[in-house]
Amino acid sequence: MRGIIYPASNIVFAAQSDDPAKFPEAKDPAAATDLLASSYGKWTAVENSALAMDEAANLLILPGRKCSNGIAVPIGNPDWPKFVQGLRDAAILSYAAAQSKNQDKILEAADALTNACSACHDKYREKPNLADRCK
Ligand code: HEC
Repeated sequence: MRGIIYPASNIVFAAQSDDPAKFPEAKDPAAATDLLASSYGKWTAVENSALAMDEAANLLILPGRKCSNGIAVPIGNPDWPKFVQGLRDAAILSYAAAQSKNQDKILEAADALTNACSACHDKYREKPNLADRCK
């Protein structure tokens, strides 16, 4: 979540308000810490970030993983794979939008992405007590 999905989703979200094509290159693009300003920057960074989320969805259904509170990731609950598929669908929509270099399509994709994140978070993350996550 924090290492792949969160930073990748922020690239797609940023493309809603700032045209990636106009993003200035970093002084040393090969060592850039901002993907949009890197050697694989601009719309390519949005494409790659969408693909990173699509691939990260596969990590969310790997058996044997635990949530931060020690509870097993609920891959056996019927709704978990549906939420994972929701992320995948939104990631693929984001990929197509990035390929089309069309910010209106990015707006739609970002909306789908937000819904995919919160559908799962509402059920499995937003808990007053950490101990109640992932149940
Ligand atoms: C299939 C379910 C699912 C989907 C889809 C999902 N998340 Fe998560 N996310 C979780 C769970 C569960 C946690 C808590 C994990 C833990 O505590 O170990 C979490 C934690 C996080 C965290 C860390 C916050 C914290 O309090 O620890 C971030 C950031 C995050 N998600 C971002 C996202 C974004 C952005 C998206 C959508 C692009 C997304 N997630 C999609 C289930 C999901």
